Amino acid sequence: MYASLLSLFVTVTGAVLHPVTKSTNLVVTEPPSFVRPYVLPDLSGPAVVLINDVIRAPINNESSGGAFSLLQLNAQPYIRSGYGDLYQTPPHYHTRFHETFFCYKGEVTLWANGEARMLTTQDFGSMPTHQNHSYSFTEPDSTLVAFIYPGGFEKFYWNVSEPFVDPTSAPFAPDIHTHFLETTFAAAVGAKYDVFPIFNDQFSFNFTNGTTNRSLPWHNGVTSAPMNSKEPYFLANNWSPKYLHRASGQVIQPRVTAAQSAGNFTLSTIAMRRRQLNETIVQHVYDQPHFFQVLEGVMMIRMMRQTVAMSTGDVAFIPGGTTFQYWSEVAFTKVYAGASGSNGLNHHLIEHAEKWAYAVFPSYFG
Ligand SMILES: *[C@@H]1O[C@H](CO)[C@@H](O)[C@H](O)[C@H]1NC(C)=O
Ligand SMILES: *[C@@H]1O[C@H](CO)[C@@H](O)[C@H](O)[C@H]1NC(C)=O
Ligand SMILES: *[C@@H]1O[C@H](CO)[C@@H](O)[C@H](O)[C@H]1NC(C)=O
Ligand SMILES: *[C@@H]1O[C@H](CO)[C@@H](O)[C@H](O)[C@H]1NC(C)=O
Ligand SMILES: *[C@@H]1O[C@H](CO)[C@@H](O)[C@H](O)[C@H]1NC(C)=O
Ligand SMILES: *[C@@H]1O[C@H](CO)[C@@H](O)[C@H](O)[C@H]1NC(C)=O
Ligand SMILES: *[C@@H]1O[C@H](CO)[C@@H](O)[C@H](O)[C@H]1NC(C)=O
Ligand SMILES: *[C@@H]1O[C@H](CO)[C@@H](O)[C@H](O)[C@H]1NC(C)=O
Repeated sequence: MYASLLSLFVTVTGAVLHPVTKSTNLVVTEPPSFVRPYVLPDLSGPAVVLINDVIRAPINNESSGGAFSLLQLNAQPYIRSGYGDLYQTPPHYHTRFHETFFCYKGEVTLWANGEARMLTTQDFGSMPTHQNHSYSFTEPDSTLVAFIYPGGFEKFYWNVSEPFVDPTSAPFAPDIHTHFLETTFAAAVGAKYDVFPIFNDQFSFNFTNGTTNRSLPWHNGVTSAPMNSKEPYFLANNWSPKYLHRASGQVIQPRVTAAQSAGNFTLSTIAMRRRQLNETIVQHVYDQPHFFQVLEGVMMIRMMRQTVAMSTGDVAFIPGGTTFQYWSEVAFTKVYAGASGSNGLNHHLIEHAEKWAYAVFPSYFG
């Protein structure tokens, strides 16, 4: 039948095969329940509310075939929601999930063992397994993007929260107070969802200029990641090592390389200039799935013979084996980009890049 001729099969090792026909729109309204390429607009898809935080999962365990999840939490400080005494999430650790914290906007305070930082726009924190941590939204319009390896951590949030009904696609409901489902929450912590609470008095609240440790740089000197996958760390945006992919005018700022994830995943931000009209746009294809989230500007993405202009907040998921191209047609675009495995786009770009001390690309070509 015609249907079979029109079908392209997305092949992903280890994942269920699903037909994606040529007429399938690359842009979806919610994360698919199977592995396929897609672009999800900002603030779309099912959402739940847990106390103060509205949680969406632009990439979930089903849409990534178990590879990773990308969760987005939108909130205001607890005190504005009427939870003045509940100043931060209950301290806890995970044994299976390596969780990462990317402040998309506003401010998210992150505690990790004896240290804490106030993460502002595009600051980053990495929390390997078995590390005590907690976080709190500390600015009136804050967004946390949590890439978590492997996939599936959203199941915890979905279990302990209530659906968030948002006909306006509001980031969160600023003036509606919800209830904390204490009994459900208490039943969910433990091995089932890999959330182990701790009663920890080692967290510091003695902040000066966004840090509890004035002997280490924080937005006033170079922050860098340890060369191991066991320690938590914080990176201040644009104050960590950067690389210039000169031919394409892209500045790659790694947040996690294979060294900090034991080869399980890589994360970076990529700032890119407008492409030149005579410039060939590289085609990429990798074995492992990738994602992009637009932070500034507009990123064009082409896959499945469709080209989509992605605005800020939009997320693209690219299964392993899918050919894709990306570029900017506006003067400055910056994206959050990641992949599972150690040999994805970030690794490829850095291999062909030079060390670069600056946050933006050169003001000349070549
Ligand atoms: C995530 O998906 C993988 C692959 O399908 C599966 O093995 C795993 O159990 C799932 N994780 C959760 C938490 O549901
Ligand atoms: C949460 O998990 C509990 C215990 O496993 C289960 O009984 C309950 O139905 C789940 N609730 C939701 C909303 O998933
Ligand atoms: C986490 O907190 C517990 C309880 O306070 C403590 O015993 C443990 O050493 C802490 N872990 C780390 C990695 O600091
Ligand atoms: C807070 O930090 C400052 C600067 O490091 C230090 O002088 C002060 O003793 C600390 N206060 C407490 C209560 O630890
Ligand atoms: C905090 O930052 C301000 C402005 O950069 C600086 O003048 C001040 O010395 C800093 N305070 C401390 C305690 O480091
Ligand atoms: C600051 O960091 C240094 C180096 O990791 C550590 O030795 C020191 O104990 C930390 N100080 C505080 C107040 O956390
Ligand atoms: C990551 O990969 C290593 C093997 O390279 C494995 O030992 C580790 O448990 C993996 N998972 C996490 C969450 O770190
Ligand atoms: C593209 O055009 C610019 C001038 O607009 C020129 O400087 C550059 O060398 C050209 N690049 C290629 C790859 O042809």
